[in-house]
Amino acid sequence: MSDSGKSAKRSSFSGSIGYVMAAAGSAVGLGNIWRFPYLAAKYGGGAFLLVYIILVVTFGYTLMLSETALGRKARKSAVGTFKAYGGDNGASRLGGWINAIVPMIIAPYYCVIGGWVFKYLYAYIVGDVKEAAGDSYFGNFITSTSGSMFWFIVFAAFTMVVIFMGVESGIEKVSKFMMPVLVVLAFVIAIYSMTRPDAAEGVKYFLIPNFHHFSWMTVVAALGQMFYSLSLAMGILYTYGSYMKDDVNIEHAGNQVQIFDSLVAILAGLMIIPAVFAYSGGTAKNLSAGPSLMFITLPKVFADMGGSRIVGAAFFVLVLFAALTSSISLAETCTSTFQDELKISRNKAAWLTVVVIFVLGSLSSLGYSALSNVTIIGMQMLDFFDFASNSVLMPIAAFATCLLVVRKVGLDKFSDIVKETSPFRREKMYRVFVKYIAPVFLMVILLSSILSAFGIFSL
Ligand code: PFF
Repeated sequence: MSDSGKSAKRSSFSGSIGYVMAAAGSAVGLGNIWRFPYLAAKYGGGAFLLVYIILVVTFGYTLMLSETALGRKARKSAVGTFKAYGGDNGASRLGGWINAIVPMIIAPYYCVIGGWVFKYLYAYIVGDVKEAAGDSYFGNFITSTSGSMFWFIVFAAFTMVVIFMGVESGIEKVSKFMMPVLVVLAFVIAIYSMTRPDAAEGVKYFLIPNFHHFSWMTVVAALGQMFYSLSLAMGILYTYGSYMKDDVNIEHAGNQVQIFDSLVAILAGLMIIPAVFAYSGGTAKNLSAGPSLMFITLPKVFADMGGSRIVGAAFFVLVLFAALTSSISLAETCTSTFQDELKISRNKAAWLTVVVIFVLGSLSSLGYSALSNVTIIGMQMLDFFDFASNSVLMPIAAFATCLLVVRKVGLDKFSDIVKETSPFRREKMYRVFVKYIAPVFLMVILLSSILSAFGIFSL
């Protein structure tokens, strides 16, 4: 164990590429592969894409830079960073812990969904192509207690082994291997999908802006997706920032992560939308159904394609790598918070993360089987954890980060921190966003998602 022990010095990535691969690994996840394509299809195709990219380079840039730069300077995860800049008081602790608690809620259910991905990969490897395309395959699987628990534990074990291996020799090594493989697979599958007969309609639908589908909801949906996809407001970038070496150009590294993340989201759209158009009539309904797009519609599409076993296996390897590198970042953030705040060794902190993932993940997994009659505000447990983290806590966490920069660190001091390693080209824009635009938009996301959860307003 290279980096355990109370007095051990803080772990770090070896350099810029290590950071970029790990942070891109965190960003590129299930959100890019199933969430982005269906939101794009639903909210105006090319119009959604355009709004999304504008939001990434403005709003996303602002939050990414804030979290990473402060985490690096304080050399602490979110709670410690808030304390370092805001003082050891109730408000700072609250701001820090809201950021730190989000990954503790997400990591467990992310591992449950990761387990579903593993199960499908296994099905393609053993040649169960027809079975996986059957109407009740997915339903039967998630409602079987032992099956879904088994695959959840397999996925969580893979995640935690990497955490136990450490930051540089675990997370960085795994990301440097998985991320390039993932991009190559994404290109190959996208090209295959776009060259199927009748796929051109889908490509047009995805890329050409359709302003009839454009509405205020396009902006709200793109904003929510940007958060989800860039792994903002979940303490991850504070933690990964704290592992970034002092001489890495922080702005440049952030840009590379954004390019990587957006590229994979676009490739995922080009993989999925044309294939669904070519093989299952490409109705908006087929495309807009969340998890069932990946676990029900796509297996049917693969079963109709030539080379279905190979295409299906390649696709699920890609999704598995995307999900693993993201769940690693969530689990690492929990571990680093426990290590910093409870002053325990990295090893003990990782074991505590195992317990959190196992307990909350089992609840999410069993929420479809043994505990299926337990609901919280009308939601199944996995949905509730998703709602509580993404729709409620994350906007508040990001709001706290804006307050920390503006009120506690100060904009001039923040600029000095960024300028230690980079020219800070978008400084003016950053200031306007962090002070005015981001806080307002964050409250809009918070309100619209809470209202839509209670059925008062539709997202
Ligand atoms: N950014 C990753 C993704 O797009 O899947 C990981 C992620 C984790 C997203 C947790 C959202 C989330 F709530």
